[in-house]
Amino acid sequence: MRFTVLTLFPDTIRAVASHSIVGRAIQAGLLSVDAIDIRSFAGNAYGKIDDSPYGGGRGMLLMCEPVHAAWREAVARSGETHPRTVFLSPQGRTFDQSRAAELSKLPGLILLCGHYEGIDQRVLDEIVDEEISLGDFVMTGGEIPALAVIDAVSRLIPGVLPDESAYLEESHSDGLLEYPHFTRPAEWHGKKAPDVLLSGHHERIVQWRRLMALTTTMKKRPDLFGRIQLEKGEGARLAEFLSGTD
Ligand SMILES: C[S@@+](CC[C@H](N)C(=O)[O-])C[C@H]1O[C@@H](n2cnc3c(N)ncnc32)[C@H](O)[C@@H]1O
Repeated sequence: MRFTVLTLFPDTIRAVASHSIVGRAIQAGLLSVDAIDIRSFAGNAYGKIDDSPYGGGRGMLLMCEPVHAAWREAVARSGETHPRTVFLSPQGRTFDQSRAAELSKLPGLILLCGHYEGIDQRVLDEIVDEEISLGDFVMTGGEIPALAVIDAVSRLIPGVLPDESAYLEESHSDGLLEYPHFTRPAEWHGKKAPDVLLSGHHERIVQWRRLMALTTTMKKRPDLFGRIQLEKGEGARLAEFLSGTD
């Protein structure tokens, strides 16, 4: 999959994307992350790409033409006629695991990062297919949100993680939060790892993990828990399990 980020900070994108799992996936040829500098399409000697908003008010806006020219360059590099173009914006739909899974099936994505007050609406109307938000808060630029999308989508591309079960069992993959994890030593600061995990009894471990995933979701995210379809008899098993935990 090909990610192309339109940004004023291409070095930030390249630096972050070159590390860890995403960096290794790039090396392995499973995906690419290209950063296009909007400023290099300024069309003037000063590299000016922003201007003050019509009607007054604070802040500066990225102008239409540099953004459009950077986007045309991204389209030309993609080899597609209209690769999906996402604008990272606090006004967009909040990003989640199911959207990450859908996006991971596309051949490529163009990710447009705003800065300052934002971007002239006319170019957004012309090139943007969807707006994605990282959450109901405002950041200074779209680079961190774009990197978050790249990271979450990349790990769902076949081959990027060594084993598909790594993400099938994780929080949000099936509407549940994941069960807690423990590793050596078996006792630390007087706290013991649960006996069942050291028992080697596969079926009991699977059952414990399922009940802990349900318990964790119920305690931390009652909104998600309300949407879960419990399996037959699971309500009673969960009640019994909860009466034995604090
Ligand atoms: C300071 S913000 C502009 C906010 C804009 N004036 C508004 O009120 O909707 C600058 C840029 O940061 C990015 N950004 C800020 N918060 C974001 C969020 N929660 N999710 C995704 N992108 C965000 C967007 O690309 C945005 O254009």
